[in-house]
Amino acid sequence: AAENFSRDALYRIFYLAGTYRTSVAKDRPLDHVLKGKVMALMFYEASTRTSCSFDSAMQRLGGRVLHFNESTSSVKKGETLEDSVRTMAGYSDVIVLRHPSPTAAGRAAEVSPRPVINAGSGTGEHPTQALLDVFTIREEIGTVNGLTITMVGDLKNGRTVHSLARLLTLYKVHLKYVCPPGLEMPQEVVDFVAAQAVKQTHCTSLEEALPDSDVIYMTRVQRERFADTADYERCAGRLVLTPQLMTLAGPRTVVLHPLPRVDEVSTELDGDPRAAYFRQAEYGMYVRMALLTTVLGRA
Ligand code: CP
Repeated sequence: AAENFSRDALYRIFYLAGTYRTSVAKDRPLDHVLKGKVMALMFYEASTRTSCSFDSAMQRLGGRVLHFNESTSSVKKGETLEDSVRTMAGYSDVIVLRHPSPTAAGRAAEVSPRPVINAGSGTGEHPTQALLDVFTIREEIGTVNGLTITMVGDLKNGRTVHSLARLLTLYKVHLKYVCPPGLEMPQEVVDFVAAQAVKQTHCTSLEEALPDSDVIYMTRVQRERFADTADYERCAGRLVLTPQLMTLAGPRTVVLHPLPRVDEVSTELDGDPRAAYFRQAEYGMYVRMALLTTVLGRA
């Protein structure tokens, strides 16, 4: 979980991720780093960025990748998570797991003799996304301390914001929240952040939050988490970041989004230099390269 990381651990991961970014840009060979190692990608939910960036990270470092997919594996025959994890641990050195249950990563870690990396657990946590989000803020702004970071959208179901809010308590920040009614940040996250003496403010609109935000972290209203379509329709499309709204933000404000987006960030914003979400997706690969190197004892 995000709260397992210390500032020192973050510093080391971000330093290594930065060196990997430079090495990739300069086409320096890295395939000796994890040569001989195997990573199992176990995905029980859809993914583009997390799955492909872990895959690319492992391949760039010279390791190999085993793909386990819910729809083509013996999960279809009723195999439990625990049995699948035990089996895949026998074929690999590290397991990367995405699952719809918030408790899945913990359950997997209990039965796995190999390290398990949580690649997104239902509406719970997405710790490696939080790592790459903080790395992105550092790359884009140069620091995290002193910033006002505004999280927007589905704060109730968004595992990325749950992990990011927790991870940001390692820094001196001000967190602002903007969401449709009923999609507020879970109380346990608010209480955790408050216990670390980090200031939190609930705003009622983007217009209120934008002028003094250094980072605007947009998120999608997650249709797949709603039992009732009418409830989803009530919340969807209410908070949309447009070029017109961005005139309220500062020239150095950074717009992030874990992606995928639906309509909450206008595509007209993509050419704005403040829109950093595709750079953020790329940085995920460097951070995951650093994380794999660390977890596999090659740092
Ligand atoms: N940010 C993120 O988790 O994206 P994917 O669902 O595509 O992996």
